[in-house]
Amino acid sequence: MNDINLKKTVKQPIIIDNYLSEIEIDIQREELIKGLIAEPKYISSKYFYDKKGSEIFEKITKLDEYYPTGTEKSILTDNAESIVKDFRQTTIIELGSGDSSKISIILNSLSNLQLESATYIPFDVSKTAIEKSISDLSEKFPVLKIRGIAADFMRRLHLIPKIEHKVISFFGSTIGNLNRRNALEFMKKIGTIMNSGDMFLLGIDMVKDIKILEDAYNDNLKITAAFNKNILNVVNKNLKTDFNADLFEHYAFYNTQKSRIEMHLKAISDMQISSPFLTEKVRFKKHESIHTENSHKFTNENILEFAKYAGLKITAVFKDSNNWFSLIQFTK
Ligand code: AVJ
Repeated sequence: MNDINLKKTVKQPIIIDNYLSEIEIDIQREELIKGLIAEPKYISSKYFYDKKGSEIFEKITKLDEYYPTGTEKSILTDNAESIVKDFRQTTIIELGSGDSSKISIILNSLSNLQLESATYIPFDVSKTAIEKSISDLSEKFPVLKIRGIAADFMRRLHLIPKIEHKVISFFGSTIGNLNRRNALEFMKKIGTIMNSGDMFLLGIDMVKDIKILEDAYNDNLKITAAFNKNILNVVNKNLKTDFNADLFEHYAFYNTQKSRIEMHLKAISDMQISSPFLTEKVRFKKHESIHTENSHKFTNENILEFAKYAGLKITAVFKDSNNWFSLIQFTK
């Protein structure tokens, strides 16, 4: 066996810095309780992604009606060469990395030299998602150095290494889950952790025809409904509650005034929910709903506003031919 073969067969060890502590579980419980006793009730959309939820989400990304993933990937494919042309000893940090399919498009367009000097850091709340991504990528790109960070990136952006030649990517319009204030706050933080010359790649879903938007969250196969209802199973695990997901209806619509898809779970009857972590039962009236997700849609003005808040320059805005989705390239 020669050197080259050896190099190809040596597997990189899986290294993940884990910041998901016991304290995190207490914080999560408190956050969930706060939402259930609030008026109106809500559950943060970050709780969708347990193992089952991540699997259902992957199915969503393949649905005919759910255009964002396919559209963003085609934008990435069309522009990868231009995006990577100046990559030198680059550390690519992917926020909310999930599966490895988007970053693979970038990695595929790197030259051998660029790949050998690159490091990839998947940064996600789901440790299992990171493990899977690392094992897939280390097989596809054996020379790539990979180190994962398991943490809630909304609260722990400071864990991003201060290293030069960074490329931070935040795909999938996940920034759309944040309210306006938090999204701008997030942009500001990104701006402060970047060095001059670093790149930030942000994928956002654009405002468009309501029918297209609403269909994307009300698919015929009811996969999005299953995804929405699964959040109650996640709550049951965390809070030892006794939610029966069958007693809730999936409800998703476009709120024109707020430029966002809202997802809710509507109780089909009166009910009471109990938990050892709650002193009182949580009561639902028939048709009362829990707000589970906001998915904001953006305009070109929002893009300029993001840049302004972050103190970043826009070097490119890549779009599909319908202007349904934008991939913004910022630099500092
Ligand atoms: C992963 C947050 C971008 O808002 O479109 C998909 C999640 N929710 N279908 C989105 C989601 C329902 C998705 N993000």
